[in-house]
Amino acid sequence: MSTNMAREKAEPVFCLGDNTYPVPMSLFATNRKRLCSALRKNESVPKGAVVVLQGGSEIGQDSTDVDLVFRQESYFQWCFGVTEADCYGIIEVETGKATLFVPKLPDEYVVWMGEIHSLGHFKAKYAVDDTKYTTDIAEALKEMRPSKLLTLRGLNTDSGKMTKEACFDGISSFAVENSLLHKEMTELRVIKTPQELEVMRYVNRVSSEAHKELMRRIRPGWMEYQAESLFKHHVYLHGGCRHVAYTCIGASGENGAVLHYGHAGAPNDKKVLDGDMCLFDMGGEYYCYASDITCSFPVNGKFTEDQKKIYEAVLKASLAVQKALKPGVSWVDMHLLADRVHLEELVKMGLIHGSVEEMMKLRLGSLFMPHGLGHLMGHDVHDVGGYSEGTPERPKEAGLKSLRTARVMQEGMVLTIEPGIYFNWPMIERAFNNPEWTRFLNREAFQRFRNFGGVRIEDNVAVTADGMEMLTCVPRSVSEIESHMQEGRQRYENSPDLGSLVPAKSS
Ligand code: GLY
Ligand code: MN
Ligand code: MN
Repeated sequence: MSTNMAREKAEPVFCLGDNTYPVPMSLFATNRKRLCSALRKNESVPKGAVVVLQGGSEIGQDSTDVDLVFRQESYFQWCFGVTEADCYGIIEVETGKATLFVPKLPDEYVVWMGEIHSLGHFKAKYAVDDTKYTTDIAEALKEMRPSKLLTLRGLNTDSGKMTKEACFDGISSFAVENSLLHKEMTELRVIKTPQELEVMRYVNRVSSEAHKELMRRIRPGWMEYQAESLFKHHVYLHGGCRHVAYTCIGASGENGAVLHYGHAGAPNDKKVLDGDMCLFDMGGEYYCYASDITCSFPVNGKFTEDQKKIYEAVLKASLAVQKALKPGVSWVDMHLLADRVHLEELVKMGLIHGSVEEMMKLRLGSLFMPHGLGHLMGHDVHDVGGYSEGTPERPKEAGLKSLRTARVMQEGMVLTIEPGIYFNWPMIERAFNNPEWTRFLNREAFQRFRNFGGVRIEDNVAVTADGMEMLTCVPRSVSEIESHMQEGRQRYENSPDLGSLVPAKSS
């Protein structure tokens, strides 16, 4: 074995056995390096500053003794890649030296937690410069004599929530600066490194395969939650995705018109009926890297004329955006492009009539696509940085105001492209009474779309130097979908019968 290979083998990685992608710890070292370099360039950051981050904590379920499965806080993950809860990390801006602080667990915890690992274990596992116990953080920082502690305070422009700023016993004896770090880290998170892109390619591959398997297996008569279950099983079994990146949307029929269907009040609990369109928006998460894929298709594997036309209108919009996407283009313009294609195709179908130019001015597109065309994606499915300071503001117009970013595209961004056409009946009825819109709408033609639901086609892409790279790989054209589902019917002849464990009623 060459020395190089030996070195390669020795590099610590995160993976769940040979079946899953080995994420090298150098990915996080690179992120820390990028952070220090950005902070050193920032004139407001004083010499001798130290970054202090607090990792996520376990969250218990209400007053019970049950913890939710832990998932690391995203900014901390971006810097350290640590799977354990209740850690801190510090980075000396000048030197880049990184120290990880882990909780000191009492020896008796061996009963519940297994081996109590040494500091050396964590140092090797995460390839950091040093490890100490969290109880020693104030002491360790005092020895460093930092000019300022840089802590993370900032707004998530999607959730409206603030980050949790680092806090520990003794922090009040230090000078703390909390207004600089969030902006720098957020901007760095927007642009993915080559190593991060590799992980995102992997989680997309895993999730694409799960969607493909679901399309092979599903039959009329399944419950929507069974589709969710199969997806989750597949991404975990084959890809090591313990988490999904968001609540699975397993919509069928009219539920497809409800954008975040699948929530606790509508938990994918309808039976999928013959003739229904399915709109399955599901994405696995691997080591805190997200995917977000939507496949729309008829459950019986054969598109009707109307299903085909709506589907192809959305696909046309997606392909137009894919063709136009490159560094320098505005995401708002991409949304408008998708809207225009939708409207042109809906005119051809006879659902609407009149001047597309006027419809665009009056934002009629937002009736059919009320959400934004897509969003940044990374550690979070709706990733940070959409409306960072110094980037274009959120537009105010219908449809456009739902965009999660209005930024100009840059190489290294990862986004979803997710155009959709939906028939949300209460919204359609409101539109019939909207004085600006009603003249464009052919009421008669709409009637047969009352229970149609919707079509969304959602792919994940990376912006490259001169265009984009498609990360998602699922059947997309009508003929590809139909033949894929046909193949599934041959492969799983007896798939419809999922079986039941409910005891038979005694007569
Ligand atoms: N799955 C949520 C979204 O598409 O943004
Ligand atoms: Mn989605
Ligand atoms: Mn999405």
